[in-house]
Amino acid sequence: MRDAGGAPGYFARMKLIRSVEEMQQAAMAVRRAGRRIALVPTMGALHEGHAALIRKAREQGAAVAVSIYVNPTQFGPKEDFKQYPRDIDADSGLCVRESVDVVFVPSDTEIYPGGLGDDDFIDQTSTWVEETTFTKRLEAERRPAHFRGVCTVVAKLFNIVRPNVAVFGQKDYQQFKVVQRMVRDLCYPIELVLTPTVREPDGLALSSRNRYLSPDERIQATVLWKALNTAQDLFNEGERNSHRLETAMIRTVQLAHRARLDYVEIADVETLEPVVEAKRGNIALLAVHIGKTRLIDNLIL
Ligand code: PAJ
Repeated sequence: MRDAGGAPGYFARMKLIRSVEEMQQAAMAVRRAGRRIALVPTMGALHEGHAALIRKAREQGAAVAVSIYVNPTQFGPKEDFKQYPRDIDADSGLCVRESVDVVFVPSDTEIYPGGLGDDDFIDQTSTWVEETTFTKRLEAERRPAHFRGVCTVVAKLFNIVRPNVAVFGQKDYQQFKVVQRMVRDLCYPIELVLTPTVREPDGLALSSRNRYLSPDERIQATVLWKALNTAQDLFNEGERNSHRLETAMIRTVQLAHRARLDYVEIADVETLEPVVEAKRGNIALLAVHIGKTRLIDNLIL
C-alpha cells in the first residue's frame, strides 16, 4: 500500500475524520490490528516544524494521526483566535505528502459538546484539566487560562485517539513540560517525544504566527534567535551569571525597533525555575512582541 507521499501508510489512502466517534473507531481498528498509534496534535496552518513532528511520529513505526483543531479555550479574550490561519486544503496536502494515516479535524461541538458560551446554562462544559506546577510563570503569567485550555484539549485528544506515542515540539517547551506532568499525574500510558525546533535559514523558528509579520517585521523577528545566540556566545566565553546573560539578551532585543520584550529567562530545563548561576543544559527562553505579533523561542545552552 502506498500513499501519494511514497511511504507505506496504515490505510491505503489518508483518512480525514471529523467526528469523535469515527476517530475512536478508526483508532480502535488500528490497535486491534496490532499497530501502535503516534499522535501529533496541532492547530493547523502546518509548516516544516509540524512536518518534522510527523516524520518523528512515523519513525516510531506507528500509524500516524495528526489532529488539526484551533482550540478556542487556549486563547485569551484579546488574543488571535479569530485571525488564527485556517487552511485545511493546504494542511491535508502536507499530511498526504508526509504519509499521515489519519487527519482528525473535529468541530467545536465535537470537542466541546456542552458549548463554551458564558451564560451558566446547566449543560455547559464544566470539566477542565489543570496542571498547577509548570503553569505559574513564563507563558502562564502572561496567558492566564492558556495551559488549562491546552491540557483540556490534549487530554480529550488522548482519550479519543488513545495513542501510544505523542510528539511535541521544543519550540513550545513549557507546553511540553505541562503536558509531560499531566501525562504522569493522570496515568496516561503514553510516551512523549520532544522534537527540536525547525528554523528558517536566518534562525527564525517556524510558527503559524509568522504569517502575521509584515516584510519589515519578518526581518526584525530574527531578534529572538539573535538574543538566544547572544546568551549562548557569552556562556561559551565563560559567563555564568544569569542576570548578565539575560541583560545581554534584553539589549539585543532592544536593537530591533519594532520589537517589544515580554520576558527573557535562564531556567532549569526540568523545573523551569530561574537559575542564578547558569549551567550547561539550562534553557534560555524568551517572548517578544514584533508589532502586534507575539513570538516565543528558546535554546538549551
Ligand atoms: P501548534 O502551535 O500548531 O503546534 C503543534 C506542535 O508543533 C507543538 O508541539 C509545537 O511545539 C510544534 N511546533 C511548532 N512550531 C515548531 C517548530 N518550528 N519546530 C518544531 N516543532 C514545532 O501547540 C499547539 O499547536 C497547541 O497548543 C496544541 C498542542 C495542538 C493544543 O491545542
